Amino acid sequence: MQVLVIGSGYVGLVAAACFAEAGHQVLGVDVDAAKVATLSRGESPIFEPGLDDLLRKHLASGALRFATDLRAGIALADAAFICVGTPQSEDGSADMKYVLAVAGQIGEAMALRPREAPPLLVVDKSTVPVGTAARVHAGIAAHTDRAFEVVSNPEFLREGSAIGDFLEPDRVVVGCRTDHAETVMKALYQPFLDRSGGKWFRMDPPSAELTKYAANAMLALRIAFINEIANLAEDVGADIDHVKTAIGADHRIGPAFLNPGPGFGGSCFPKDLQALLKAGRENGHPLMSLATTVEANRIQKQVLLRKVKAHFGVKPGVPAPLQGRRFALWGLAFKANTDDIRESMALELIEGLLTLGAEVVVHDFAAMEAVKARLGAKVRYAETPLAACEGADALLIATEWSQYREADLEAVARALKARRVFDGRNLFRPEAMEARGWTYHSIGRRAVVAP
Ligand SMILES: NC(=O)c1ccc[n+]([C@@H]2O[C@H](COP(=O)([O-])OP(=O)(O)OC[C@H]3O[C@@H](n4cnc5c(N)ncnc54)[C@H](O)[C@@H]3O)[C@@H](O)[C@H]2O)c1
Repeated sequence: MQVLVIGSGYVGLVAAACFAEAGHQVLGVDVDAAKVATLSRGESPIFEPGLDDLLRKHLASGALRFATDLRAGIALADAAFICVGTPQSEDGSADMKYVLAVAGQIGEAMALRPREAPPLLVVDKSTVPVGTAARVHAGIAAHTDRAFEVVSNPEFLREGSAIGDFLEPDRVVVGCRTDHAETVMKALYQPFLDRSGGKWFRMDPPSAELTKYAANAMLALRIAFINEIANLAEDVGADIDHVKTAIGADHRIGPAFLNPGPGFGGSCFPKDLQALLKAGRENGHPLMSLATTVEANRIQKQVLLRKVKAHFGVKPGVPAPLQGRRFALWGLAFKANTDDIRESMALELIEGLLTLGAEVVVHDFAAMEAVKARLGAKVRYAETPLAACEGADALLIATEWSQYREADLEAVARALKARRVFDGRNLFRPEAMEARGWTYHSIGRRAVVAP
């Protein structure tokens, strides 16, 4: 199959590399000429485990190429995947300007296709509101009378494990109206489904569009819920690790997405929840559980700052109460194994600490450059996790990189001014920390305060 992938970000780049891996001929397109040049040299502009290898392998094999203009691939394509961003608009809805611009570009380029070519599948892979397939169809049809069909094919990959998620999906959701579309989409995805035994779901485009938002909303609900139970556990002397394990053993509940933490961030949940809330309001069905989830998460993103303030006795109204204090912050990305800092809780934590007059020294395994571009000299950047701790009053942990879990805590203790950790990711057990003389605050477990 000949595949055109428009947009070479987290989703488009992974899709392009994985379709090439499945034996298809792929042209990846991006308007960002610098990104296309980087990709064409075999360098990935994003951190995603396994992506570099696939990129180099298929640039070398000739199965994968990159260009700045989608016209380079439209004539021969069986399917054109739209993978551009759908950021949040001011009113909370998904901003469709990039998707609709691509629809217009496809419409104009359709004249390059031979009249006898089979209908082009234009596949919405970006996360888009219900009704977008129809809007994309209208945007293309305004420019062409060549045959095409718009298909909704939402993407469920997770940053940090995107390659594995794409190559071995749990399920593929395809919203289409014709058997031709289903046949082409199956041919594209069959190699992945053969590997994973994943399920194939054909439905109408609006159902596919809603499925993506509903999936993200459900996951966000679980996170917000377990975080609230964790906060309550601290108050009543319970341990969230016991609670989450026991409820997760119920097959109706399951163990996934029950890890308490410092609130969700990232490029998807926050904006997708807002878009779904907006759709609910517009259709006269306000999504109340979701509205509460968003509010609970807003509060949870302050959880480490609240614990720091309580520990250091910060009183309201006192200017710069943490002046002279230095904090080491491990983790800047919104989760481990990515360099994505969009809506990262770590950024809110930094802003909060700086406002209170503290000094912050940060470390991350992939997201340092992104934070440097955003915050510049407002914080200091450490080459290693240990270097961040040098002379700091406490260590704060915001991202669950596995290397942090394996850190030499005795070396950390020697670098810090005091054995003091505020752990937003529950990387250690309170009993173990207590035995080694640490003051240890985590989420949903008893606080340990060294004598
Ligand atoms: N990031 C994720 O984990 C994830 C997971 C599932 C779904 N999604 C959805 O997928 C979509 C893309 O997300 P992303 O994180 O890959 O975004 P991104 O911002 O990383 O990438 C988007 C890319 O599209 C390019 N672009 C914009 N206009 C273009 C045009 N006219 N032609 C060609 N390229 C163009 C941009 O230059 C950019 O490189 C969003 O709707 C998002 O909600 C993202």
